[in-house]
Amino acid sequence: AHSITILGLESSCDDTAAAVLRRDPAGKTEILSSIVQGQSSLHAQFGGVVPEIAARAHAEILDLCVEQALTSANVALSDIDAIAVTAGPGLIGGVVSGVMCAKGLSIATGAPLYGINHLAGHALTPRMTDDVSYPYLMLLVSGGHCQFLIVHAPDSFERLGGTIDDAPGEAFDKIARLVGLSQPGGPSVEKTARDGDADVYPLPRPLLDRPGCDLSFSGLKTAVLRMRNHIIERHGGLPSQARADLCAGFQAAVVDVLAEKTKRALHLYLETNPAHPTACVAGGVAANTAIRARLETVCDVYGAKFIAPPIALCTDNAAMIAFAALEQMSNRAPDDLTLSARPRWPL
Ligand code: KG4
Ligand code: ZN
Repeated sequence: AHSITILGLESSCDDTAAAVLRRDPAGKTEILSSIVQGQSSLHAQFGGVVPEIAARAHAEILDLCVEQALTSANVALSDIDAIAVTAGPGLIGGVVSGVMCAKGLSIATGAPLYGINHLAGHALTPRMTDDVSYPYLMLLVSGGHCQFLIVHAPDSFERLGGTIDDAPGEAFDKIARLVGLSQPGGPSVEKTARDGDADVYPLPRPLLDRPGCDLSFSGLKTAVLRMRNHIIERHGGLPSQARADLCAGFQAAVVDVLAEKTKRALHLYLETNPAHPTACVAGGVAANTAIRARLETVCDVYGAKFIAPPIALCTDNAAMIAFAALEQMSNRAPDDLTLSARPRWPL
């Protein structure tokens, strides 16, 4: 047995990322480097990610990210034993850029190529930094996704429920636009909410009356829009206190909905997996402090261990993609050069 040094690439949305990880013969994994180049400044003037601009930027800076990841890990390209790349789901242009770059590197080095599902990357992240064994419950919350999964194995996921419309991160981004805050909306709405009172503007908690683990955020978004318009009509603008109260009210509604649905998912999960009382969260929205704190409380009530990875590993990164390949490689063959991008790729 020997150690494996792997290079990971991620370019499925608006972050270009490369990382180098090493797994020792005992199975312990170390992140040697993790480079993430965000594109938010490129998309800022458009109020959202523009796929064509994203694809061009990925193609332009992927090589540089790889170089930075290797240099910062103090590893030569010839030391790389395997290459992992996000093959979907995501924006087609970005995913194609990453897959082509990975194929080129695989041809150049002779290292085997592993196409990885971006969602599997997020869902396996807790095992990268914490002592988490299979199975565990995972709440995956990001800009494009929201689902409860039982993670049985590196390539085996059971879906308990998910959003029937928007993802919470998308809602945070939309609310930020509505009240004139910068993108990405999650961090700016969270920051503004700290100065607000969540009880000033009553907002709905969608789908709590319906049994099961499905969620909805689009009605909440519309409710915030109406409330905002109402405030602007009354005050001739959006006073900063009203903006903070609105952000606080919105975030409180998201927290309530996620907490209640997590309770139900945990209940369901523990019925069949009582010996593994662990719940994890991952994805960009898992960076939210209020959400993390509340989910921790829910898990305490059920006697489950709550794991939230470090924030830099919750948002999009390439370390999680390399890690997913390390987790999967004992159980699957590498991909060959026919690997293609899958913009839609359910777990
Ligand atoms: O996982 P991620 O980096 O990309 C996707 O795969 O979607 O998630 C990005 C999303 C964005 O919508 C962003 O607004 C949200 O995560 N986000 C947050 C916070 N930080 C990032 N949402 C709420 N609170 C935060 N602190
Ligand atoms: Zn993501």
